[in-house]
Amino acid sequence: MSKTQSQRKKEDEEEESQIMPSSPKSFSARPFSATRRSNALVVIVSLCIGISGFVFGLTALFVSPSARRCGGNIRPRSVSVVWETNALTSELKADRGGLLLDGERTRHKVMAFVGIQTGFGSSGRRQSLRKTWMPSDPQGLQRLEESTGLAFRFVIGRTKDKRKMLELDKEVEAYDDFLLLDIEEQYSKLPYKTLAFFKAAYALFDSDFYVKADDDIYLRPDRLSTLLAKDRPHSRTYLGCMKKGPVFSDPKLKWYEPLHYMLGSEYFLHAYGPFYALSADVVASLVALRNNSFRMFSNEDVTIGSWMLAMNVNHENDRHLCETDCSPSSIVISDIPTCSGLCNPETRLLELHKRKNCTDTPTVDD
Ligand SMILES: *[C@@H]1O[C@H](CO)[C@@H](O)[C@H](O)[C@H]1NC(C)=O
Ligand SMILES: *[C@@H]1O[C@H](CO)[C@@H](O)[C@H](O)[C@H]1NC(C)=O
Repeated sequence: MSKTQSQRKKEDEEEESQIMPSSPKSFSARPFSATRRSNALVVIVSLCIGISGFVFGLTALFVSPSARRCGGNIRPRSVSVVWETNALTSELKADRGGLLLDGERTRHKVMAFVGIQTGFGSSGRRQSLRKTWMPSDPQGLQRLEESTGLAFRFVIGRTKDKRKMLELDKEVEAYDDFLLLDIEEQYSKLPYKTLAFFKAAYALFDSDFYVKADDDIYLRPDRLSTLLAKDRPHSRTYLGCMKKGPVFSDPKLKWYEPLHYMLGSEYFLHAYGPFYALSADVVASLVALRNNSFRMFSNEDVTIGSWMLAMNVNHENDRHLCETDCSPSSIVISDIPTCSGLCNPETRLLELHKRKNCTDTPTVDD
């Protein structure tokens, strides 16, 4: 009798272990433990605050001048988000007041959100991008979003320079293709902006992937769409053109790393900085942590790579994301490693866009 009971218990356990992965690496499948409960609470509280912040964020959409101009048919794009203001909250709120938009209290659903990181000295690059692979108006962006599932926005912080801020305001009004972060651009060399970007993008968009791109690359949105839509066995993906390389301990060198003593002589595998993508599960984990929990190395690509090294993600290496010339399967064109993106991007973007082998080629190479 006791034998059958223990047998049954064993069967139950076996059944349970089939449902629950035995690997403790799977975050979502694990039951709540006492030690996790407080963490979960922080996450839930942050999420609630984040969501309410998002609702505030929508008010910024409502006051967007071009939204009024277009009669509300075209979904406005430029939004402001504030970087977290204290340790507990990842508060996102608009810096402009306004009314609530009814029925739009959910994050906008797209397959991927592509944030093109840009700065105050880069209006020429933005103009070149708008003349080449990136649509130059909200209608064009909307059409591209419908055909590829990709939403594109320029991502920029703020500056204390009033004249530059005014210029940016004008550009925002004219093109309405920005995501404005409430962080100082002077930190943009540090990876803080990237983290702020992922948090803001996650709050505003419900995407399978969040893509970080620089403003000096040539991109084929159609092929990127195909790549991101691919079936993957893992839900936690770090996708990019992967590299390793020497750690520079000489302060005179461009890529000097002050924390080199932690690293040894060669970096861990990480994606080139101008273009990489994180799946929603990965970004959700970043969003759940306080901004000052992360180690920041001096280079952005290495810093993200170090976070990904610590997390249970699949490193997906794709060389089509770092080609130096247009080919039948190239997705991102840059002059890596000569320049971090394209050398002389303003003119090179226009040159590339004139070439048949960059534009008049099929989406996928069969
Ligand atoms: C990160 O958060 C802390 C407080 O949690 C804040 O003092 C700091 O300014 C934030 N960092 C950035 C870059 O905003
Ligand atoms: C693409 O075309 C340019 C000239 O338009 C040529 O120089 C280049 O070699 C071509 N690239 C490839 C990969 O065929």
